[in-house]
Amino acid sequence: MSSLVSAIVIIGTLGSLLVFFLILHLNRHIARPGETTGHVYDGIEEYDNPLPSWWYWAFLLSIIFSVGYLLWYPGLGNFAGLAGWTKVGELEQTMAEAEARYSPIFAQYRETAVEELVTDADALKIGRRLYATNCSVCHGATGQGSYGFPNLTDEEWLWGGSGEQIKTSILQGRMAMMTPWLGVLGEQEVHDVASHVMSMAGRDMDEAEVARGQQTFMTYCVACHGQDGKGNVFLGAPDLTNEIWLYGNSRLHIEHTIKQGRSGVMPAFGKQLGDDKVHILAAYVKSLSRSNPEQSE
Ligand code: HEC
Ligand code: HEC
Repeated sequence: MSSLVSAIVIIGTLGSLLVFFLILHLNRHIARPGETTGHVYDGIEEYDNPLPSWWYWAFLLSIIFSVGYLLWYPGLGNFAGLAGWTKVGELEQTMAEAEARYSPIFAQYRETAVEELVTDADALKIGRRLYATNCSVCHGATGQGSYGFPNLTDEEWLWGGSGEQIKTSILQGRMAMMTPWLGVLGEQEVHDVASHVMSMAGRDMDEAEVARGQQTFMTYCVACHGQDGKGNVFLGAPDLTNEIWLYGNSRLHIEHTIKQGRSGVMPAFGKQLGDDKVHILAAYVKSLSRSNPEQSE
């Protein structure tokens, strides 16, 4: 609020309290006690009596109370109030109390390795709740993922599946960088290299296309996806030799990725959640693939 607006608010607020008080006070004593005002309606006459005094005092006390309230709390324009109370301050205090109460619960798992924690039912219960609140919007209620958001219940990891690697993904976030290739390769070469990618994934493709595509792959793609197409967890480059696709399994999708590039972002949660919660979350995430019957470690 600018100081002009603030001044107008203050004057308006105090002014109306003052007017209220004056009306109340000036009507306390009247000139003709016991006489009627002279108004007659259908034979009913109107007396000119003052307010009952308990009304008068109730109004007066409420005015005094509001002035006190407006001085104590921030109610007058920009005036901060004598108590120093703020909404933010109250929120912070509540958060600090919750932190003091709950942090020991999270901290008790700190020393247990993620790999061990995956069998701790109590820790996983906490992990499931943290996951539902913070992660399910993107990775799905059961960690199944969706287009652009990796499935956390399988054994394919863009950034590595050890406890420490998963923890790092959550704490610091991840930013993938698959550069666009259409400008470098042109339509035909993109088509061929896509055929090679699909053949690595195990599909039957046109041999001539695959052979040409392999050339291209060896020149431009190995740096990140590796000679054998198995990917690289330091770059978040996916393994291309199976049918697990982050961005769709059709030729159209695969070519689109190659042409336009992709840059998936996993936000960092370290600041927001702190180490102890992330530790439990990592165990929960790891437990998802362990408990998935289609996977074996
Ligand atoms: C600079 C490193 C880098 C290079 C070079 C690179 N990629 Fe990628 N690629 C990535 C990363 C990282 C991702 C994952 C992107 C994401 O998660 O958003 C990816 C994703 C892909 C995908 C999507 C896989 C899926 O699961 O949907 C395909 C297909 C692909 N790359 C093919 C290629 C081909 C073909 C080339 C060579 C023309 C190539 N990449 C070159 C890093 C690279
Ligand atoms: C805003 C959406 C979003 C939210 C919220 C989110 N993630 Fe992610 N997460 C992603 C994306 C996108 C990726 C993949 C990044 C890439 O393309 O490499 C990812 C990657 C990951 C990975 C690495 C997967 C791999 O294959 O290596 C893990 C582990 C993970 N997230 C766990 C979590 C957890 C736990 C939470 C909750 C604390 C969470 N994510 C919240 C979007 C999100």
